[in-house]
Amino acid sequence: MKFFIDTADINEIKEAASYGLLDGVTTNPTLVARTGKKFRQVLEEICAIVDGPISAEVTAVDYETMRREAEELASIHPNIVVKIPLILEGLKCVRWCSEHDIDTNVTLCFSPTQALLAAKAGATYISPFVGRLDDIAHEGMEMVRQIIEIYDAYDYETEVLVASVRHPLHVLDAARMGADVCTMPLSVIAQLVKHPLTDLGLARFLEDAKKVPR
Ligand code: G3P
Repeated sequence: MKFFIDTADINEIKEAASYGLLDGVTTNPTLVARTGKKFRQVLEEICAIVDGPISAEVTAVDYETMRREAEELASIHPNIVVKIPLILEGLKCVRWCSEHDIDTNVTLCFSPTQALLAAKAGATYISPFVGRLDDIAHEGMEMVRQIIEIYDAYDYETEVLVASVRHPLHVLDAARMGADVCTMPLSVIAQLVKHPLTDLGLARFLEDAKKVPR
């Protein structure tokens, strides 16, 4: 399973990249707004750090403007993946992008049938938002399971990119289901490595090592 970091914060991206486990980056307008920097500058900085897919979201909601934005974003760097909302105009833009060799990440997916439409439109990635479904008492990971089932049944090439990940259990479930990608905040990546028995065991080994003559 590929690990993407879900942030536009350059320091967090550098930190995650230093672990040697980072395969790509996802951003959204909220995450970019938090940086206080210009959109293009943020994207260029990220592209200079990570050699992998970097999702950058369009902000238009009509096909023509979205298409122009998609072309503009894709021209910034070959690693840019154009993030497009799961609305009808967006699906039209996804189809256009797939016919023009522009990678897409279809975002704000909250149902398996929406994901089916994205795959039919030729999306490179589908982003089911699991945490936000959990927030309203629907099982986010059950949506992912059904998307994988549908994509497998028809051999769709669209990659399942689990998004809105809030904790390590989402990552565990995504990996067990065979999701292609999990995008997560730096805090979740850091939580994955933690185990109290590792810390306890290491403390004991280090203590005992002091007793061994070198
Ligand atoms: O990038 C989209 C997604 O991962 C957002 O997550 O936590 O705002 O629901 P969240």
